[in-house]
Amino acid sequence: MAVEILAKKKVLIIGATGGIGSEATRLIRKGQANVFITGRNEEKLKQTARDNDIPAEQAFLLDVTDAKAVQTLATTIYDRVGPLDILINAAGIGYLNPLENTGAEDFSKVIDVNLKGAFHLMRYFLPPMKEARKGLVINIPGVLGKAPMAGAAAYAASKYGLNGMVKSIREELKRTEVRITNLYLGGVDSDFWDNIDMRVNRDKFINAKEAGRAIWFLCQQPVSGVVSEMVIQPFNHQAI
Ligand SMILES: NC(=O)c1ccc[n+]([C@@H]2O[C@H](COP(=O)([O-])OP(=O)(O)OC[C@H]3O[C@@H](n4cnc5c(N)ncnc54)[C@H](OP(=O)(O)O)[C@@H]3O)[C@@H](O)[C@H]2O)c1
Repeated sequence: MAVEILAKKKVLIIGATGGIGSEATRLIRKGQANVFITGRNEEKLKQTARDNDIPAEQAFLLDVTDAKAVQTLATTIYDRVGPLDILINAAGIGYLNPLENTGAEDFSKVIDVNLKGAFHLMRYFLPPMKEARKGLVINIPGVLGKAPMAGAAAYAASKYGLNGMVKSIREELKRTEVRITNLYLGGVDSDFWDNIDMRVNRDKFINAKEAGRAIWFLCQQPVSGVVSEMVIQPFNHQAI
């Protein structure tokens, strides 16, 4: 069975500066794809571009909560290369706290980045793919996008929302060959956990390299079918 060849594919990785995004970037770039990346941290963004031999003009500072900036980026990339072949949304923030310690502002921030940010990305990058009737979109709702956990009221709200939003968008794309994959990862050892005040055993988590490899694998699946979801969890903590 022929697999998708990554060479020359136009791939945009949102959150390429993160633990999972940077590993996905490395592997996809190795496959000779034409890679565009975004991050918020300028130093990390430049470093990620340099490490992967990505031209500086294909690395963009982007805050996904800024709808206008997302729209501008979508136009900029479209004007340069046309519709994307692959869009990977690996941006997001972690927030785990008991309900009584979760302020309304904390809640809004998590929703703004993880859910509304993803909405802006889908809203502005998908129409050209829909018109071209082809492409692949990967989001990472994570296991907390379909299983509850104590302390995850805000985070799970954002990720269950992402799950529902993406599945609804999929219904609108059924007459095209735009494929949508939701990746449900359990705990991955990345900076995501640095500011989370919860006792976790990161040694037992999924390695960020393995998570990146899962994304790379998804990018190579034959177009005759669609991997609508993939679940990877730490062996010792299988929630779904
Ligand atoms: N780690 C886990 O256990 C785990 C499990 C399941 C799902 N996930 C999901 O996987 C995705 C990647 O997580 P990760 O582990 O790679 O986390 P990470 O290492 O903390 O990376 C997060 C990435 O998101 C970017 N980002 C954060 N806020 C942003 C904003 N407002 N606008 C644009 N970019 C923003 C960061 O950019 P800068 O670094 O440049 O600021 C970084 O590139 C997230 O959606 C997360 O929810 C993670």
